[in-house]
Amino acid sequence: AEGDAANGEKVFKKCQACHMVGDDAKNRVGPPLNGVVGAPAGRVEDYKYSPNLLELAEGGLVWDDETLTAYLTKPKDVIPKGKMSFAGLKKESDIDDVIAYLQTFE
Ligand code: HEM
Repeated sequence: AEGDAANGEKVFKKCQACHMVGDDAKNRVGPPLNGVVGAPAGRVEDYKYSPNLLELAEGGLVWDDETLTAYLTKPKDVIPKGKMSFAGLKKESDIDDVIAYLQTFE
């Protein structure tokens, strides 16, 4: 779905405790999210992912609109033993918007 990247920037405040985007993005609690939309899961080389995420990445998990929407709605539904301690976003439009925002970072 088409999201509003400007609202997505506001929604991303909920992610910023753990994730960076942009030129100087580094690992925090979570990996940097530049280029994540459309990319295979677990691709940041120097980030220590959970074994469960890496297992699913081996199985072909790719972060497209559908998988990102499911993950951001309820992380444990996609990666049951993953380490993203985040309750999830309640509004579907916020999810579309944060994906649109992430899409602006290569
Ligand atoms: C992983 C997005 C909030 C901690 C991820 C991944 C995405 C993502 C796409 C997978 C990255 C990859 O495969 O390279 C988001 C978004 C958020 C959010 C859009 C806000 C809406 C948070 C928060 C925390 C967090 C608040 C910390 C409390 C993590 C961790 C991982 C992760 C630790 C690694 C998961 C694992 O290895 O199982 N996040 N996240 N995230 N995120 Fe988040």
